[in-house]
Amino acid sequence: MINVFQPELRDEEWAAVRAVMASNWTGRGRITDQFEGAWAAHLGVARERVTSVTCCTEGLFQAVSAVGMESGEEVVLTSISFVGAGNAVLAAGARPVFADVDARTLNPTREHIEACLTPRTRAVLITHYGGVAIADTLGIAALCRERGITLIEDSACAPASRLTDGTACGTAGDFGVWSFDSMKMISTGDGGMIYCQSPGQSSALNLDLYLGLGTTSAISKTGDRWWEFDVVRPGRRAIMNDLSSAIGLEQLNKVGGFAARRRHAAATYNERLAGHSWLTLPPAELLDKRSVPYFYWIQTTPSHRNALASFLRERDVYVTFRYYPLHRLPIYRHDGRALPGTETAANSTLLLPMHQALSERDLDTVTTLIDEFARSI
Ligand SMILES: Cc1ncc(COP(=O)(O)O)c(C=O)c1O
Repeated sequence: MINVFQPELRDEEWAAVRAVMASNWTGRGRITDQFEGAWAAHLGVARERVTSVTCCTEGLFQAVSAVGMESGEEVVLTSISFVGAGNAVLAAGARPVFADVDARTLNPTREHIEACLTPRTRAVLITHYGGVAIADTLGIAALCRERGITLIEDSACAPASRLTDGTACGTAGDFGVWSFDSMKMISTGDGGMIYCQSPGQSSALNLDLYLGLGTTSAISKTGDRWWEFDVVRPGRRAIMNDLSSAIGLEQLNKVGGFAARRRHAAATYNERLAGHSWLTLPPAELLDKRSVPYFYWIQTTPSHRNALASFLRERDVYVTFRYYPLHRLPIYRHDGRALPGTETAANSTLLLPMHQALSERDLDTVTTLIDEFARSI
């Protein structure tokens, strides 16, 4: 079986986990602090702007709810977004408004976003699809700033991709979120990070992630009051722990190697599939030096896409399409606006196996099977 996504965890991660277990403290502690510091350094931002979280979905929920919306207010996002993004908008009492995307990159342009803004728009939530940095993220960020709209960047798939000015994906707006779940480039089992542009928001976020237990209390902690505490916000408990963070630190050390192997896999697919005129290969941006491929996608007619998906899956090569367009799901109550780029992309795109553990033999198997399929059409 060749997986479409999978982590790569080796002896270094085992050793790091063993060290945490030997310390007899597996909860949030020194190692989690180190991981947050290392992540801030990786992004090139101040330490206090970065906080770890149980998973990226929780990060999306936290970021969207921090906007503080009233019923009827709107969040613009692309329909080809992770389902947790849509859920975060609904859970915050807001209305999702779906922006279209470019059918090749599956990313929105500034114009796609701008076309959806209304006086009720409070936030824009953009997803860097498949590791490709949205080309005009800085333009979208400027637009949001001009209009007083919160910008949230879902960078779950773009942990090592950069914007046109060289800054990290996820740091152009008010919030950025990353995922370390089991299918991501950097995997800690589960886990995530949140970037917060405003230090005030960052402090509030830290309270919301840990039960709202404040340190601002006037309680003196002396005498018979030593066991009292204060709750300053109705927070949840959504923190990472030292076991996952120890894995994360090791994975982060390897990120350059992971990126190189992913680029190699994408370049190999491009080279081996170039002769198939019935296939459209991914846009050039997937392999420019700013982006690290998280997905590798090909596009063809809907019937060829579906037939090829079945052909490969029946032969133990797992392929998929992410993300099922949210506007097709009744719960999100799409307003009916046409989304031609989204529809084309959703019906024609197929994600081939892409991860840092793909071997030359795996790449050979996948491309040889595609050659075989091509002879049958
Ligand atoms: C774009 C995107 N955002 C968010 C998430 C959610 O991440 P997590 O599994 O860490 O909650 C995913 C997971 O697949 C994703 O692909």
